[in-house]
Amino acid sequence: MPLEYLKEINSTNDFIKENLTEYNCNFSGVYTFNQTKGKGVRGNQWISESEKNIALSFCLEDAFVDNSVNLSFWVAIVMRNFIYELSKKIPTYIKWPNDIIIKNKKLCGILIEKHKGITIIGIGLNVFQKNFGNLNTAASFYSLGIYQPYSLHELSENLILKFQENYNLLNNTEWLLTNYNEYLFHKDIVSNFLIKETTKQGIIKGVNKDGLLIVDFENKIEKFRLKELKLIF
Ligand code: BTN
Repeated sequence: MPLEYLKEINSTNDFIKENLTEYNCNFSGVYTFNQTKGKGVRGNQWISESEKNIALSFCLEDAFVDNSVNLSFWVAIVMRNFIYELSKKIPTYIKWPNDIIIKNKKLCGILIEKHKGITIIGIGLNVFQKNFGNLNTAASFYSLGIYQPYSLHELSENLILKFQENYNLLNNTEWLLTNYNEYLFHKDIVSNFLIKETTKQGIIKGVNKDGLLIVDFENKIEKFRLKELKLIF
């Protein structure tokens, strides 16, 4: 099954899980502009206004993925580069582990899940949505004023193509680590973090090959896994 469009889906990630017999080879996937029960990371919801944004998921066979850290870096870098080109080269960053940020706002979220030998890569890309209510760190191309008369279908097709074109970099550990750190959001900037309900100030120094975030707290270096800290921005 190549990339298929459906008018409405609860969650594109869940849809693939429920239809694995059809979506079981590399880059087969599904997309919609009306996702009614989108899932985010840490058990959050991913809410998206109907017909304004892209929700797309595609598969990779586990046998083609050496390790999950490389995969997470690869997805973030490919998405970052895709958005950077679309934005006409406005500085575009990766917020650890894999949110894409422009002008201090999140334009794209990524949810990677594993299911029965398949890795499902789910991408939410905000394109035309004007308001995000009280989600004040979210944005779209439109709300950031970098609107182009995109076609959502065309963008979705181009997006999956970008991943296919960059397939050969998926297991290139050194390249991935260097590029990921080059685009890392808030690197070397004094930032506030939420750690176990306490706010602490520190400086992001980078991400290591195991995907851990390295933060300098007044010369005491600490490493964090996902869920152990939250960057406040
Ligand atoms: C995040 O919390 O930042 C991750 C959001 C991921 C949203 C995408 S939209 C397509 C795919 N289907 C889902 O249900 N979630 C992901």
